[in-house]
Amino acid sequence: MESIALAAADKPARYRELLPQLAALLDGEPDLIANLATTTAALRECAPTASWIGFYVMRGGELVLGPFQGKLACVRIALGRGVCGTAAAERRTLVVPDVEQFPGHIACDAGSRSEIVVPIMRRGEVVAVLDLDSYDLAAFDDADAAGLAPIAELLGTLAW
Ligand code: SME
Repeated sequence: MESIALAAADKPARYRELLPQLAALLDGEPDLIANLATTTAALRECAPTASWIGFYVMRGGELVLGPFQGKLACVRIALGRGVCGTAAAERRTLVVPDVEQFPGHIACDAGSRSEIVVPIMRRGEVVAVLDLDSYDLAAFDDADAAGLAPIAELLGTLAW
């Protein structure tokens, strides 16, 4: 299996390089789980500071753990709870530089220090969130939010 090739050193350029490669990897594959799993592995190449990369998928009004890379994590998250549930409820990307400062943060891994959660929208509805965590404080910033936005858009076109 070929691997993702990211030559750029700076974050925005790495995300720009990732997007067409990810699109090519997902192209022609109809299976949602396979595509989400592929995405987590591809993102790992792009976000080396992330300790956990994965999806929570909307199922019956709550978020349920989907494909991920990292340690075991909480399986179900209610809408409005934690960073994931808040991002889903508010339908917006949340960049949390210090999770201890986020009221209601759900500590699946006590080592996590910062987090970014990006909602995946399909026909105006949140179908999932993409969650990246890091053991470093302020690992994620606006460059990650901007870089992940077109990836979330691409993922919104999958067979949810
Ligand atoms: N910290 C998240 C929970 C998911 S784990 O980090 C994988 C939250 O507060 O929603």
